[in-house]
Amino acid sequence: MALLFIPLAVLAQILGLTTVALISVWMIKYLDGFAWDGSSQQFNLHPFLMVIGLIYFYGNAIIIYRITSGLNVPRLAVKLAHFILQLCAFICSIIALVAVFQFHNANQIPNMYSMHSWAGIATVVMFGLQLLFGFLIFLFPKLPERYRTLYMSSHIFFGVFILGLAGATVLMGIGEKLAFAGNYSEFPKAAIVGNVAGSACIGFICIIIFIVTNPNFKFHSYEHVDKL
Ligand code: HEM
Ligand code: HEM
Repeated sequence: MALLFIPLAVLAQILGLTTVALISVWMIKYLDGFAWDGSSQQFNLHPFLMVIGLIYFYGNAIIIYRITSGLNVPRLAVKLAHFILQLCAFICSIIALVAVFQFHNANQIPNMYSMHSWAGIATVVMFGLQLLFGFLIFLFPKLPERYRTLYMSSHIFFGVFILGLAGATVLMGIGEKLAFAGNYSEFPKAAIVGNVAGSACIGFICIIIFIVTNPNFKFHSYEHVDKL
C-alpha cells in the first residue's frame, strides 16, 4: 500500500496544477485577463486566487506531514511549512474576496445573494478559525500536550471538511460564472475549460483526502515525535 504513496502524490500535483492552469486559461483567454479597477477583469482575480489558495496551497499543506514522514525532517520545520502554506492560502483567499466584493460594489451588484457566496464565506471564516486555533494550540504559545492531543481529532476533521466545502464552493462558482455568460447550454469552449477545471479540482481533493485519511501513508507514529 505504501508503494502507492508517490504515484498518488504526483497525480495530486498534476490534477492541482491542471485546475490552476485551466482557471487561468479561462480567465485570460476567454474573459479578458486581470486588472484591479472595479471591472470584470478585477472579478477574474477572484477564481484565480481562490483555486491557488483554497485548493492548491491548502491541499498541499495538509499532506506535508505525509510527504515528509520518515524523511527525518525536523518536526518544527514541518509544522512551520504546514502553517506558512495555510497562511499563504488564507492571504490569497482574502485578496480574492476583496476583489469580488469591490467588483460587486463598483457595479451596484448586491453582495452575498447566492448559495455559492454563502458556502464561500463559511469556507473562508472556518479556514481562518482553523488557522488561528492551529497556531495557538500547536505552535505559539502551544498548549500542554494533554490539550494538543484532545484537539487533534477536531483539527483533522475540520481540516478535511473545510477542504470539501471549498471544493463544493468552487463547483458552484464555476457553474454560476458559466451561466452568467448566457450561452452555457450551447456548450461553448469556455464551458469545456470550466467543467474540466472543476473535475480536476474534485479529483485533486479526492486524492488529498484519501492520503490524509489513510493510516498506511503515515510512516511515523506520534510516539517517535514530540507527541504532536
Ligand atoms: C473556495 C473558493 C471560493 C470561495 C471561498 C468563494 C467565495 C465567494 C464569495 C464569498 C462571493 C460573494 C461576493 C459578494 O457577494 O460580493 C463570491 C462571488 C462569486 N464567485 Fe466565488 N468563491 C470561490 C471560488 C470561485 C470560483 C472558482 C469561481 C468560478 C468562476 C467563482 C465565481 C464567483 C462568482 C461568479 C461570484 C459572483 C456571484 C455570486 O455572488 O455568487 N468563485 N465568491
Ligand atoms: C487552516 C489551517 C489548517 C488546516 C486546514 C489544517 C489541517 C490539518 C490536517 C488535515 C491535518 C492532518 C494531517 C495528517 O494526518 O497527515 C493536520 C495535522 C496537523 N496540524 Fe494542521 N491545519 C491547519 C493549521 C495548523 C497550524 C497553524 C498548526 C500549527 C503549527 C497545525 C499543526 C498541525 C499538527 C501538529 C498536525 C499533526 C500532524 C501529524 O503528526 O500527523 N495545523 N492539520
